[in-house]
Amino acid sequence: MSSSDDSYLLDRTNATETARLNAQHEGYITALGYHIHPAILAAHPPTAALKVAEVGTGTAIFLQDLAAAHPSWTLHGFDISDAAYPPPVARPTSLALHLHDAKTPFPAEWHGVFDVVHMRLLTVAMGAREDWTRVARHAAQLLRPGGALQWCESNYNPTFLRTAAARAEDAGVTLRMQEVFDGLYHVLGPAMAGVYEPFTGEAVVVKGALRAAGLQRVWDDVVSSDRDIETRGKFARVNTAVGVNLLKKMRGEDALSAQDLERIEQETASGLYTRFDVHMCIGWKP
Ligand SMILES: C[S@@+](CC[C@H](N)C(=O)[O-])C[C@H]1O[C@@H](n2cnc3c(N)ncnc32)[C@H](O)[C@@H]1O
Repeated sequence: MSSSDDSYLLDRTNATETARLNAQHEGYITALGYHIHPAILAAHPPTAALKVAEVGTGTAIFLQDLAAAHPSWTLHGFDISDAAYPPPVARPTSLALHLHDAKTPFPAEWHGVFDVVHMRLLTVAMGAREDWTRVARHAAQLLRPGGALQWCESNYNPTFLRTAAARAEDAGVTLRMQEVFDGLYHVLGPAMAGVYEPFTGEAVVVKGALRAAGLQRVWDDVVSSDRDIETRGKFARVNTAVGVNLLKKMRGEDALSAQDLERIEQETASGLYTRFDVHMCIGWKP
């Protein structure tokens, strides 16, 4: 079920997509080194039972982690679709999931309730520049005074890097996976007018949106996606799946030949990995 406009580009009901989102989550958490930025946690006594909301929660994997680590916290997830939600029996009792389109204001009952609001990887769901500000404003309304919002995006224009030793036969051969991604920007650009620019400049856009939403002390914690060497292979698999699935969705199932897919598989197996910048933009409600 979906509450209204649905711009999700991949099939969110698919078990593979759920596994991909959850693997992507692990990669982000490892790269950043935290779920909630330590500066936000430091504003509360260590034993405080925090109220946390996630907007665009997807599979709710982020909130499920918090539920396991902090059983006394109250957790609410919102998404435009409940298709990727875990079934009610599999949800921790401290976690409630709701349907809501974040481009529309949240009902007043949620205003001023939360200590922390978390958002991550909503770029593809944003259309015009106003959408970023609108979503930031609605999310900020969920915060109580003194609460903090953290919004994580990447400059999602990854570079694919070779880790295997160079070979003579590689001369003049561009990595197929890099070509897929370079091609994607041309396919996605016209289809997603307004999104193309934030794909490479989210941090500036997100910080501007947080300020426009009235948040203060806005700043950006930036890490490289390969900060932890162990995550390289994981992100490579996640990004390869995104690239391949998006291209098929935009150009049809035949967009990549069996040879293409085999070559991409070989590149990934040879140690190919992706690197990009992960931005956690943070703002405080006065
Ligand atoms: C790429 S997924 C990220 C999920 C999750 N934040 C994570 O990092 O694992 C983007 C999510 O945003 C949701 N979404 C898209 N448009 C939305 C909207 N207008 N309001 C609320 N959620 C939305 C999608 O349904 C999807 O679950």
